[in-house]
Amino acid sequence: MVWQVETHNENETKELAKKLAQKLIGGEVICLMGELGSGKTTFVQGLAEGLGVNEPIISPTFTLVREYFGRLPLFHVDAYRLNGLTVDEVQSQIGLWDYMERGGVVVIEWADLVADALPVERLDITFSHTVNGRLIQFEPHGEVYERLVSALPVKGS
Ligand SMILES: Nc1ncnc2c1ncn2[C@@H]1O[C@H](COP(=O)(O)OP(=O)(O)OP(=O)(O)O)[C@@H](O)[C@H]1O
Ligand SMILES: [Mg+2]
Repeated sequence: MVWQVETHNENETKELAKKLAQKLIGGEVICLMGELGSGKTTFVQGLAEGLGVNEPIISPTFTLVREYFGRLPLFHVDAYRLNGLTVDEVQSQIGLWDYMERGGVVVIEWADLVADALPVERLDITFSHTVNGRLIQFEPHGEVYERLVSALPVKGS
């Protein structure tokens, strides 16, 4: 099942992410996909705000992973530069499992570039440009994520 919503500006995307943030308990993996400028980092900013992070979110492109501290730790990964690495290499570069075990929320931009290294249970979110804004599609994998998405103002199809 895919759930989707169209947002019409940056703020609506952030508000949606904030609603998701309120439901997180730690240990979740959120995978963001979609073309350049489609709203992935904007969504992470909303997540961070919703978790009470008091620090600006900047693109982690040069560090691979940035750690923020809010109600839960937030680990922001940009997989753009990990493209072409093996699963083992990705693991040693970003240590996804360590972050999950530490009770944090892991959010990965360009997750499709490291598809083989992702856990089976996760929330996929795909962003695309529309005439009026952005289409944001949620595809939960696993019960935990289905519950999360069912709490959001999105339409199923
Ligand atoms: N509905 C919308 N949701 C999110 N961002 C929007 C929306 N409408 C316009 N924007 C603008 O689009 C841009 C999205 O940039 P953002 O950095 O979030 O994209 P990104 O997917 O992370 O890009 P990149 O692939 O370069 O990392 C921002 O400048 C934002 O203001
Ligand atoms: Mg980005």
